[in-house]
Amino acid sequence: MQDEEIYNSMRILEARLTKTKEKMQKIKHKIAVYSGKGGVGKTTVAANTAAALANLGFSVGFFDADIDCPNAHKLFGIDELARFEDNKTLKPVEKNNVKFISMALVQEGNNAIIWRGPMLAKAVNDLMFYSEWGDLDFLIIDMPPGTSDIPLTVMKSFDLSGFLLVTTPQQMAINDMVRSANMVSHMNFPVIGIIDNMCGDVFGCSDEKIAKELDTKFIGHIKLSKMLREKSDKGQLCPEEFKGIAKAIKNYYNI
Ligand SMILES: Nc1ncnc2c1ncn2[C@@H]1O[C@H](COP(=O)(O)OP(=O)(O)O)[C@@H](O)[C@H]1O
Ligand SMILES: [Mg+2]
Repeated sequence: MQDEEIYNSMRILEARLTKTKEKMQKIKHKIAVYSGKGGVGKTTVAANTAAALANLGFSVGFFDADIDCPNAHKLFGIDELARFEDNKTLKPVEKNNVKFISMALVQEGNNAIIWRGPMLAKAVNDLMFYSEWGDLDFLIIDMPPGTSDIPLTVMKSFDLSGFLLVTTPQQMAINDMVRSANMVSHMNFPVIGIIDNMCGDVFGCSDEKIAKELDTKFIGHIKLSKMLREKSDKGQLCPEEFKGIAKAIKNYYNI
């Protein structure tokens, strides 16, 4: 590629990002649900908390930022694709009063998406660029694990308002959650609080003092629950169990 071509494509990318940020100004609070570790329940917390916020009467959107392994649509029980209008805007699918967008809604099937970092970054930016949210009180962003490519792109591109950190009681999960907390603070974003998932007789529960050590709030424990696992597998949300998290968010923003 010639220098001029590279320069032009970078200008297009920058212009798109500016447009995305302008569009996202209509969203009051953009909250990412995050942990460095996979499998701790980020998607479960994000999806159910989004539905719990909608139950409190807020207008809510959900953006699945897990580009290569999207699965949040399964929790919502969504099996349709999102519609492109005028080749310009992607209309979210609405479920449980939540406007939902994911890579899974623009490409069919379970094919592996095998992309390097720059492709993933472009895909997450493009998906948000085309999404038509309108005015929202909350956009919940379901983050993939890790502290590199996509989390970094989401943090740099979308003017986030705050983070919910999720861990499970195992020390390894706590360590990775602390890593993500450090990244969030390095990028100068506030942490709304920490959620301890899968707590109970099997794994024990996380010590709430971890929140104090990270200078944030401990929001609550969610039990390891057969009912939650079974309902999730069937594509049914359990917003009642996540009402406490929705209220903590409401209190955090004084609304
Ligand atoms: N509290 C819980 N009790 C039982 N199963 C849970 C609980 N939280 C999450 N799960 C299950 O654990 C698996 C991983 O959760 P998920 O939300 O996909 O994690 P992550 O997004 O962090 O990778 C899912 O199958 C989910 O249904
Ligand atoms: Mg997930």
